[in-house]
Amino acid sequence: MATKTSGTTGMLGSYNSNSLPQREIIESSTSLMKNAMKNLNIRPGRCPVLIADFGSSHGSNSMHAMKTIISYIQEFKKTDQQFLSVHIDLPTNNWTSFFDTSNEQDKKIFFSLATGQSFYKQCLPPNCLTVGYSSGSIHWLSQKPCNITNHCISTFAKGAELQAFQKQARDDYRNFLENRSRELIQGGILILVMNCFNDEGITMTESVYHNLYKCAKSILSPNVELPNYTLPVYIRSYDECVDKELFHQNSFEVIHSNMSAVDFKFYEQLKNNEMELKEFSEKQTEFIRCATDSVLRGVLESTGKRSKEDIDQLSNKFWKLYKEHVQQNPDEFDIKCYQTYVVLKKL
Ligand SMILES: C[S@@+](CC[C@H](N)C(=O)[O-])C[C@H]1O[C@@H](n2cnc3c(N)ncnc32)[C@H](O)[C@@H]1O
Repeated sequence: MATKTSGTTGMLGSYNSNSLPQREIIESSTSLMKNAMKNLNIRPGRCPVLIADFGSSHGSNSMHAMKTIISYIQEFKKTDQQFLSVHIDLPTNNWTSFFDTSNEQDKKIFFSLATGQSFYKQCLPPNCLTVGYSSGSIHWLSQKPCNITNHCISTFAKGAELQAFQKQARDDYRNFLENRSRELIQGGILILVMNCFNDEGITMTESVYHNLYKCAKSILSPNVELPNYTLPVYIRSYDECVDKELFHQNSFEVIHSNMSAVDFKFYEQLKNNEMELKEFSEKQTEFIRCATDSVLRGVLESTGKRSKEDIDQLSNKFWKLYKEHVQQNPDEFDIKCYQTYVVLKKL
């Protein structure tokens, strides 16, 4: 049975310490933003130029990305128009953290609004968005179409289970593009930075997923909870990210696309003796805990038989095991993350 992800991914923004790897991903798209803004057509007028981030989490990376885009528009379009930045994430996002960050901004130069809803739906009125951006978010599906046998992520799924995830990912991508196409003005730009696997089928984060599943096998009941521990995630191939048919159907012209691996740098710091093994294993664990703990908790809650204390305890035990494995096998955690970068222009 399909399970909605709202409520499961919502805790993703709870720990601000997850900013680091995500910030690396945003930084890796800076030159792309710059070139994309040269291609932008803005609509002159008295109203602010609307820009939006889809999957804004705790906000600090999101606001950084939006400010970068604004500075490039100002540089290349020589406009004195105001900007309004809209940040979209699930209702269950850590909005307290988001508003803490947004309230620290200088309101004379950066205006922002937030909306708590799925980006697979229409989020803005038609024909009003000038630039849309999303990074590290749309591999989270609107729902998991089925559970995966013998693993926790569709990267290792086979046969009908893999096909079900591929279909869900394509349907979600279609909905995402349809809605962005509706919202964007003619000549507007959509920049997408999407987790992907390379030509050999490698994501470079396999050790993370294997470790998650190993811990799940130690903690969860084998017949009910373990099969249910399936992340509502699909990591796409490059061709699935650069789906020309979907782009064409939604009136998008491809301005740019490429794939490259983003290095999270923790391993490099460990090898250069800039980080202790203890800190390395803590950072590796904190990052992935932030991204996936809510899925674990969802599974523990689903039987209705575990108390809150029990769930807290099991979650802590899970992440202790995860950290110990990283500490004992640091060389498995030289993690990079393949990304596909796409710039689309609305025709
Ligand atoms: C890994 S975080 C990336 C956040 C941000 N782009 C950054 O760089 O810090 C993914 C975000 O996507 C959000 N997300 C996942 N599915 C979503 C959906 N259907 N609609 C809106 N946001 C969603 C999650 O809540 C989370 O905040």
